[in-house]
Amino acid sequence: MASTANDKEKSSLCFFSSYSFSSFYREIKPSSLLPRIRFVVFVLLCYVLWLRLLFFSFPLGSSSSSSTSYSAAAAGHSHHQLSRSPETCDPDIAPFYIHTIHPRFNAALVRHCLSRLACCDVCPYVGHLGLGRPLLRLPDAADAADAVRGTAWYATHPSTAEMLFHARVQRHPCRTMDPEAAVLFYVPFYAGLHVAANFRQANHTRRDALALDLAAHLSSLPTFRRRAGRDHFLAVGRASRDFMRSPAGPDMGANRLLLLPEVANMTVLTVERHPWEGHNQFGIPYPSYFHPRTAADVAEWQAELRRLGRTHLFAFVGGVGSDPEKADIRTSILSQCRMSDRCLPVECKPGRHKCNDPELIMDVMRRADFCLQPPGESFTRRSTFDSVLAGCIPVFFSEHTAHTQYRWYLPSRPAEWSVMLDPSQRDQIEDELARIPRAEVGRMREAVIGLIPRMTYAHPDANRSQLGFRDAVDVALVELTRRVRSIHYKH
Ligand SMILES: *[C@@H]1O[C@H](CO)[C@@H](O)[C@H](O)[C@H]1NC(C)=O
Ligand SMILES: *[C@@H]1O[C@H](CO)[C@@H](O)[C@H](O)[C@H]1NC(C)=O
Ligand SMILES: *[C@@H]1O[C@H](CO)[C@@H](O)[C@H](O)[C@H]1NC(C)=O
Repeated sequence: MASTANDKEKSSLCFFSSYSFSSFYREIKPSSLLPRIRFVVFVLLCYVLWLRLLFFSFPLGSSSSSSTSYSAAAAGHSHHQLSRSPETCDPDIAPFYIHTIHPRFNAALVRHCLSRLACCDVCPYVGHLGLGRPLLRLPDAADAADAVRGTAWYATHPSTAEMLFHARVQRHPCRTMDPEAAVLFYVPFYAGLHVAANFRQANHTRRDALALDLAAHLSSLPTFRRRAGRDHFLAVGRASRDFMRSPAGPDMGANRLLLLPEVANMTVLTVERHPWEGHNQFGIPYPSYFHPRTAADVAEWQAELRRLGRTHLFAFVGGVGSDPEKADIRTSILSQCRMSDRCLPVECKPGRHKCNDPELIMDVMRRADFCLQPPGESFTRRSTFDSVLAGCIPVFFSEHTAHTQYRWYLPSRPAEWSVMLDPSQRDQIEDELARIPRAEVGRMREAVIGLIPRMTYAHPDANRSQLGFRDAVDVALVELTRRVRSIHYKH
């Protein structure tokens, strides 16, 4: 098993190299030919290695054919493959075009991350297209056959939504290779990875340079100018405030990407929108650990959650943050949880990596009816999505943790699937939760379990016609389609 994981790691490294090749290709200048030639040779070697891996690791079956077309799409030869694809485009999703941008905006950021693991907390997790390390089994969730089959579970980092989004749309059946046929345009900039590597850059000119560079590139494109960018979108894996540095506020390491005039007319998908200023920002889920390839994978997990007996009323996975105002809620929650024998606490502390252990987190959340989701360093938490994945009803302390963030994804009535505690109820959490009738708890849990498919980033290998459900990326594409169509009519 270990050697397979290793091989996958290698092939994903090669994936990034071959992916960037098509864009390098256009920009070759004589002065820098030598390094480029070395790069091309490296890519070819990778490709050969990758083909060997295909033949030896996946001898038969649909997984090999889907991997083949994926790599072809990645290498920029996908025209032919896609037009032969038996998969059909969802009628609610408009044909979209993926802009080819220089690898300094995506693949090079990943390579940089992989080559200097110390740079950012996300770096050890960017392998496998952002999925992270495969988890072979969850405690008592999988039998031997599950462990042998391609796993759907990965130690995915919360900041990799931008990579997962990109990987998933590459072989999407609604992708078109013809910009003239496209209604939507995706700009695959890994802005989160870039900002993470530049938080400590004190010089604002340098910190903003890549964003300005992208804006200049976009405004040079006729496809962008045609509708002043209104049919274009970005997907970013970090909170939008990391890209909205204001001249007045404190310097939190952010850049100005989302404040640039070119970006102001675009649509921005982000794991945390700015609650007041993010008019063109729409929340997409943080990735959790489950990346199913088929609807059957999802149904199996949902059935597992329904079978479980839950031993505790509530659980809290989190730490006491550094913001004194927010730490107050969390300190109180943690001590209430520790004092109650109906609560399961997992305390996260800097340096202790309990909270990076997906198996522990899922195990705790699957044993509780309710999972407490106080705001952390910012309004939103990945933990909300972990708790949905575990069928644990989230308990919120602010409407900005989910309700104002992920409108595309959530039922319009928050009480159907979650609990909101107002400040007067925060000192008796256990009593408040115990008061909810069991039948109501059952209904809410069923609603939470029903949210799992749309909150999930399907495995990028997934074959559309086998997938059989709309995942987080499909839901975003449906809503982007609705939005761009309404904008077109207005102008
Ligand atoms: C996807 O799966 C379906 C059903 O198993 C199969 O018929 C089809 O050929 C597969 N497509 C690709 C591109 O692998
Ligand atoms: C910031 O970086 C830019 C570009 O590298 C440079 O021109 C400028 O002098 C730097 N500013 C400071 C204050 O160091
Ligand atoms: C954004 O759209 C407005 C009209 O809605 C237009 O006047 C403006 O030039 C656009 N901005 C850019 C940078 O294209």
